[in-house]
Amino acid sequence: MTLSVPTLNLDRPASHSAPLIDPFARAITYLRVSVTDRCDFRCVYCMSEHMSFLPKADLLTLEELDRLCSAFVLKGVRKLRLTGGEPLVRRGIMTLFSSLSRHLNSGALDELTLTTNGSQLAKYAAELKACGIKRINVSLDTLDPDKFRAITRWGDLDKVLTGIDAAQAAGLKIKINAVALKGVNEDELAGLVTWAHGRGMDITIIEVMPLGDIGEDRLAQYLPLSIVRARLSEYFTFEDIDYNTGGPARYVRVNETGGRLGFITPMTHNFCESCNRVRITCTGTLYMCLGQEDAADLRSPLRASESNEPIYKAIDEAITRKPKGHDFVIDRRHKRPALSRHMSVTGG
Ligand SMILES: C[S@@+](CC[C@H](N)C(=O)[O-])C[C@H]1O[C@@H](n2cnc3c(N)ncnc32)[C@H](O)[C@@H]1O
Ligand code: SF4
Repeated sequence: MTLSVPTLNLDRPASHSAPLIDPFARAITYLRVSVTDRCDFRCVYCMSEHMSFLPKADLLTLEELDRLCSAFVLKGVRKLRLTGGEPLVRRGIMTLFSSLSRHLNSGALDELTLTTNGSQLAKYAAELKACGIKRINVSLDTLDPDKFRAITRWGDLDKVLTGIDAAQAAGLKIKINAVALKGVNEDELAGLVTWAHGRGMDITIIEVMPLGDIGEDRLAQYLPLSIVRARLSEYFTFEDIDYNTGGPARYVRVNETGGRLGFITPMTHNFCESCNRVRITCTGTLYMCLGQEDAADLRSPLRASESNEPIYKAIDEAITRKPKGHDFVIDRRHKRPALSRHMSVTGG
């Protein structure tokens, strides 16, 4: 199956050649797209066990997602990440990767990538590589099969490890994302770092964020990375490095392994000064900040006309509303989620 994208006008109108700059002088060059809110896992920090998902009819088609992503590329986005939910469970998703890869070939896009739980990687790794994807993020919080099942509720560690093998065999570079969970994987994080670096993979450790009602107590899960870092320093020596992927992670070099370790600390540290990203959901809602409610509907302008002009206008207007930052709070007085929507909706 190939996508037909007849309405995409690649002539760059003069009025839209200006880069997207927000009110705080940050250039928006990175778009993350949640291509589905569905997933084959139910990670305890991300979803409740009995999630209700959006009706399929509300979702943008793959053609519409292509058109929207391409509009952002025309507006100066240089990096595109497909995420979810689990992007690789969306039917026909490889046709979207394949059609978006034309922007890599034309030089309009620097990077096309994805964040995945790895469960379908064995199936898709070679195709992803063929679409010009070079690096991917794989989420993995533990190497203990029972713990893995407890965290993901439905996941099978073996399948993910096979997927990682397949991705590396296909020549994809991998960064592991691990969420630090109090009392669950805190004693394993040093082992995860050693394992990832031993396989030539970067690893980033992430603080739990209060997104969406998950039917569990966030405070019970929350482990500040200041504590994680202090504990890891008992095993490793860190050297601060300048490495920057344009994301919120602060990286160190681990002297003992030679590998890179990132820390993402939305709860204990503000990472918004250099924010270059916005997110769209699978229904075409644009969120200017992961941690704020304000949003813009892009599905209506997308469907209203075959011309992309209304989309450009809506994007321009939305970017003028990008906030300076978020203020997540997890403490005993704030047990409710800071935001009602789940990470799987906005796209982590
Ligand atoms: C929402 S998932 C979507 C992509 C894919 N399903 C995966 O797990 O990689 C993206 C990332 O968000 C992280 N995540 C989900 N909910 C989170 C939360 N409440 N706090 C911090 N990270 C979260 C996951 O661990 C994962 O690394
Ligand atoms: S973190 Fe990713 S794999 Fe886990 S439930 Fe959320 S979307 Fe699915």
